[in-house]
Amino acid sequence: MTHPSLEVRIGSLTLRNPVLVASGIIGYGAEYERLVDLSAIGGIVTKTVTRRPRAGNPPPRVVETFLEIKAPILSTLPCAVIVSVEGEDVREFCELVEGISASGVAHAIEVNISCPNVGPHGLKYSTDAGMAREVMSAIRPLTRLPLIAKLTPNVTRIGEIAEACESCGADAVSLVNTFIGMAVDSVTGKPILGTVLGGLSGPAIKPLALAKTWEVAQAVDIPVIGMGGITHARDAVEFILVGSTAVQVGTALFANPSLPEACVNELESHLRRSELSSVADLIGALEVPPGRGVIRAGRRAS
Ligand SMILES: Cc1cc2nc3c(=O)[nH]c(=O)nc-3n(C[C@H](O)[C@H](O)[C@H](O)COP(=O)(O)O)c2cc1C
Repeated sequence: MTHPSLEVRIGSLTLRNPVLVASGIIGYGAEYERLVDLSAIGGIVTKTVTRRPRAGNPPPRVVETFLEIKAPILSTLPCAVIVSVEGEDVREFCELVEGISASGVAHAIEVNISCPNVGPHGLKYSTDAGMAREVMSAIRPLTRLPLIAKLTPNVTRIGEIAEACESCGADAVSLVNTFIGMAVDSVTGKPILGTVLGGLSGPAIKPLALAKTWEVAQAVDIPVIGMGGITHARDAVEFILVGSTAVQVGTALFANPSLPEACVNELESHLRRSELSSVADLIGALEVPPGRGVIRAGRRAS
């Protein structure tokens, strides 16, 4: 059998393989170039770029700094670069999308409407379909780059939010951002996190993330980019089976920087073992008994 094809498409962007590094894990890529072989993976998603410095979540990520200092480095990386942006209101989202788009450095933009760590505005746009629509429809006309809406799992009907983004021209949705969690110190009687609530990521969330990804994949026709707790190479295959076109590796990369590459290799081996010629044959190929696992919130389930 010839080499199985690992290429996937996210809107107009072709990725050489479906494995990406998630936002917030390797900064702007260059910092980790010696640890992660970027030429072996599909691409990276940058740390979320905001309009203004953000107190309490250092270091500040400001669009001007990004464009001056980070953008020139990003354009030298040997993989696709997806720039993550987040505004405090719709106007800021628009400014960020216009700025990043004009810089010419991004192959796609991930619209982070789901950050749980930045107070009420972070989550509001992805917990309400109307507000998700407001952001996505405002930014859609401002760029020709593929737009990926990053969703929060902290909602009851995530399929509806994904559908809202799709209806406003999103080229893909990515999920999950972190689950809201908290840690308590019983000795001091105080919360352990300065922010009281924080974002839970890593292996604990994988079953939850798989379920959300499965739900969204049933609700929309655009590509779904799945993530949450990918720790072993085979986890990437699981996310593709439930309907992901591409996957993102997050927290586990801190312990194992070669994990993204291992995911690519495992994916290729899996396709060979299954005698499949393309990763496209694996997307959503989970064998579910008829009538089982259908989630009623999604359009396709109705
Ligand atoms: C240290 C850290 C920083 C993160 N920063 C961002 C960020 O800037 N923007 C974003 O959209 N997601 C951010 N995330 C969320 C991840 O991109 C990912 O959605 C989440 O951690 C789930 O994947 P994982 O379990 O593989 O880590 C961050 C996660 C971690 C652990």
